[in-house]
Amino acid sequence: MSGRLEVLLSASRIAERTEELAVQIGRDYADRKILVVSVLKGSFIFLADLVRKLRVPVQIDFLRVASYGAATESTGMVQFRMDVDAPVTGRHVLIVEDILDTGLTLDYLKRHLQSGQPASLRTCALLDKKGRRRVPFEADYVGFSIDDQFVVGYGLDFDECYRNLPDVCILHQG
Ligand code: IMP
Ligand code: MG
Repeated sequence: MSGRLEVLLSASRIAERTEELAVQIGRDYADRKILVVSVLKGSFIFLADLVRKLRVPVQIDFLRVASYGAATESTGMVQFRMDVDAPVTGRHVLIVEDILDTGLTLDYLKRHLQSGQPASLRTCALLDKKGRRRVPFEADYVGFSIDDQFVVGYGLDFDECYRNLPDVCILHQG
């Protein structure tokens, strides 16, 4: 698909908001050590920026899921591709995701990690398309609420392209 790109959130706006989130997270966790769990692939750039702004002790792990093929609509089925390396038991886990859409991915991941009995479990999403939920889900930390438009850049892809764009852009199809 070829499409026209329109900047929705500039790199500088994202950086400002990420700083605010980091301050809020730092305050909430005080001097507890956080296990930040990045949901690959989409969150890799947000994760890298967020953790460098955090002033609390941080450990980082990754997991990977896929719910989209080469499409802009979720298949509605979350496929687990890779789990975290180490048990989350007794740890303060913060899941970091690029975008919260139907809610299926984070709902699934929260249940999955909860079964490992962490000391606490919260979620942080850079973007939130609130109007699209298929399961009720609220993230504890949200960067921006956005309308129901397909966005790419700053880690987010369409068919594995556009992840490297510095801004979050609307992909106009056609
Ligand atoms: P959910 O399970 O429907 O909440 O979707 C979460 C996943 O869908 C995200 O991690 C993204 O990978 C993908 N996704 C949802 N909306 C978009 C979008 O607008 N652009 C790119 N990926 C998206
Ligand atoms: Mg994703």
